[in-house]
Amino acid sequence: MPAEITLAAAARAVLLTADPAAKVKAARAAARAWRSGRLAWIFDVPMPGRPARGARPELLPPSRMPKRGRAGSPRTRVAMLHAVAHIEYVAIDLAFDMVGRFGDRFPRAFADDWVRVGSEEAMHFAIVRRRLQAFGADYGDLPAHDGLWQSAEATAHNALARLAIVPMVLEARGLDVTPAMIARFEAAGDVTSGRVLRRILSDEVGHVGAGVRWFESACWGAGREPVPTWRTMIAAGFCGAVKPPFNDSSRSAAGLTRQFYDGLAANGDCQHQQPASTGEGQIPRST
Ligand SMILES: [Fe+2]
Ligand SMILES: [Fe+2]
Repeated sequence: MPAEITLAAAARAVLLTADPAAKVKAARAAARAWRSGRLAWIFDVPMPGRPARGARPELLPPSRMPKRGRAGSPRTRVAMLHAVAHIEYVAIDLAFDMVGRFGDRFPRAFADDWVRVGSEEAMHFAIVRRRLQAFGADYGDLPAHDGLWQSAEATAHNALARLAIVPMVLEARGLDVTPAMIARFEAAGDVTSGRVLRRILSDEVGHVGAGVRWFESACWGAGREPVPTWRTMIAAGFCGAVKPPFNDSSRSAAGLTRQFYDGLAANGDCQHQQPASTGEGQIPRST
């Protein structure tokens, strides 16, 4: 009888697949296998410190990324789509890392949520990549930045911090910036890209929502109030991305109410662009 395939092994396999098309395939296959009960809810292998990456795109520090310029020209639209494609590519890893790294600390429904998120990220990557290809370009043609995975590394040992930062700051930031991006594509007459981004925006409300729900449940489980806990963690470790304008309606549809982030952006003395790597003393360690 073959050994049982575990959810952790399937998640690890997604993270260790660098080729973009193969990663999409692995993510969707893992999600199908999980939904149909073919993966055991067992966490028997560790997640890698860094996911596998191919030679392209070249990864640069955020400060060295070329400026994209104004909307309208096909070149600028390709640059915007490439940036979105990269975010979605990394988001596949972030979702499966959430499952494989922290799944054993939560009920089974946690795995249901993040496996679904991972398969949606794979679909997002695939549809954005198709838009790039419609422009005669492809994922990997331009440099990309590695900031998202840096946030994952900084929260690798703390589920509460990971939930506070990845879905509730980084993905929430996507809710804020995507409507303007949609408007720029539509103003340039590219309604197809606009439609793709609308689809992504509506799914991302669900991803932020899952983050809020599991963050709140982890807080209640540890006897903490979610809002002050989140605000303390963000103020201590990650200020750069919590800045207006906020998409209040999408945020509140995700359960990320103004109580969480009101006034945070007024804190002008933030030193960190990412969670403090020394976060043990600053970011509560509980889940
Ligand atoms: Fe996405
Ligand atoms: Fe997402």
